[in-house]
Amino acid sequence: MNTLLEVGYLLTAVLFILGVMRLRSPATARSGNLTAASGMAIAFIVTVLKYHSYSWLLIGIAIIVGAVVGTYAAKKVRMTAMPQMVALFNGMGGGAASLISIGALHSSWSHGISTPGSSISALLTILIGSISFTGSLLAFVKLQELISGRPVTFGAQKLVNGILLAIALILGLAMVISGGKHDFLTLTTYVIIAVGLGVLVVLPIGGADMPVVISLLNAFTGLAAAATGFLLANNVLIIAGALVGASGTILTQAMSRAMNRPIQNILFGAFGKVAAGEGGPLAGTDGVVQTASVEDVATILAYSRNVVVVPGYGLAVARAQQEVRQLMEKLNQRGVTVRFGIHPVAGRMPGHMNVLLAEADVPYDSLYEMDAINPQFPQTDVVLVIGANDVTNPAARNQPGSPLYGMPILNVDQAQRVIVLKRSMKPGFAGIDNPLYTNPKTSMLFGDAKASLSQLLRELDDV
Ligand code: TAP
Repeated sequence: MNTLLEVGYLLTAVLFILGVMRLRSPATARSGNLTAASGMAIAFIVTVLKYHSYSWLLIGIAIIVGAVVGTYAAKKVRMTAMPQMVALFNGMGGGAASLISIGALHSSWSHGISTPGSSISALLTILIGSISFTGSLLAFVKLQELISGRPVTFGAQKLVNGILLAIALILGLAMVISGGKHDFLTLTTYVIIAVGLGVLVVLPIGGADMPVVISLLNAFTGLAAAATGFLLANNVLIIAGALVGASGTILTQAMSRAMNRPIQNILFGAFGKVAAGEGGPLAGTDGVVQTASVEDVATILAYSRNVVVVPGYGLAVARAQQEVRQLMEKLNQRGVTVRFGIHPVAGRMPGHMNVLLAEADVPYDSLYEMDAINPQFPQTDVVLVIGANDVTNPAARNQPGSPLYGMPILNVDQAQRVIVLKRSMKPGFAGIDNPLYTNPKTSMLFGDAKASLSQLLRELDDV
């Protein structure tokens, strides 16, 4: 029986790895998700059979509550609220790993069977898992705007965090050396410090940095789960935790690179404090803003040969993905080539635009990543920017003083013409003015993207 259960775990590990591999392309992502989910189902069944002394009633209640909450949340969540949902789920993972380790440590102390190795595993999991738990919950309440999303800073913040971390490590070391010896007060203090550290680490972070921090906390949760796997001698937990830890770390690096924000700046720079969400009218540009009517834009698009659509966060807010696909079809029928230029951090989460466009059945082969589409802009007749702002801001390329300077962008200003669909002259998430809007090549079509696109679709029938 035991061999069969181990084979089940092995199968789970293989399915997890295959699932992650299939997540690399939008074409295979859906099946990748199902592959990994079936791995999880097998892991769950094997675990229940392996530890059959547990209460079936408690397990049953947990399954029902988890399934109902998870299904409801996944069905109801809006695409724009996905980062905070990921934060919430991630926090639960960190919290669970931490609680399991507290239980395991407590039990090994009570039975006098703790070893330095198992204590170190458990204490590391408690520290990392608790930081991830409260850090993710704080990220959730910030992004859900239950409290202000701005960074909260105070003097000597880094020093306080450093001292608390040092105290936690000293307490941890003391517990490993003493082998537990009814050291429950020390353990309680250790847990309180870890929980507090999660809050203190995320407090000074805000604005556009939040999704990167969530990805980092996700990596932390993976590490905590892997450490729990060592503690429980559970191979599948080690493999799953390592996969989450590694992919979270790679994603964090990719996001911070695409935003041109070194990770230490994200953690200690309080970027959102000065830049994010300032709102207000465009200031500091003296150029002329040209507006276009729906009729103008329909005519320009109808008589062009090739169009590149650049979607951004506003497309998700307006939920205009179906209209974009219809526009593509209508223009294709007229012989106009339509491609999509996808910036790695357009929207508010990795792959945001890919998911939106896939939902509307936009063919994957019409989606071009930034490096592939950038050389094509000089030969492009029209770029249609829909609800994107920061990812098209030329200041990132040519204004060394700009906070966006150095961030790779979509060079839409190199096309023959640029049409921007947005509601106002307000800046994007970084709160930075966009000189693209006063470029003589650019025409603004103001309005909600869904409404503007619907009007455009009607107008194209008459051109
Ligand atoms: P943003 O720069 O945030 O610009 C979005 C624009 O959409 C806004 O200027 C807004 O202008 C417009 N908009 C909002 N609702 C709209 C609607 N209903 N109809 C039409 N337009 C609408 O978006 P972006 O260009 O996608 O850039 C993403 C930003 O998020 C970057 O700064 C990036 O660093 C940051 N970020 C992204 C990620 C990931 S992983 N994607 C993670 C962290 C941070 P109006 O209000 O005038 O309409």
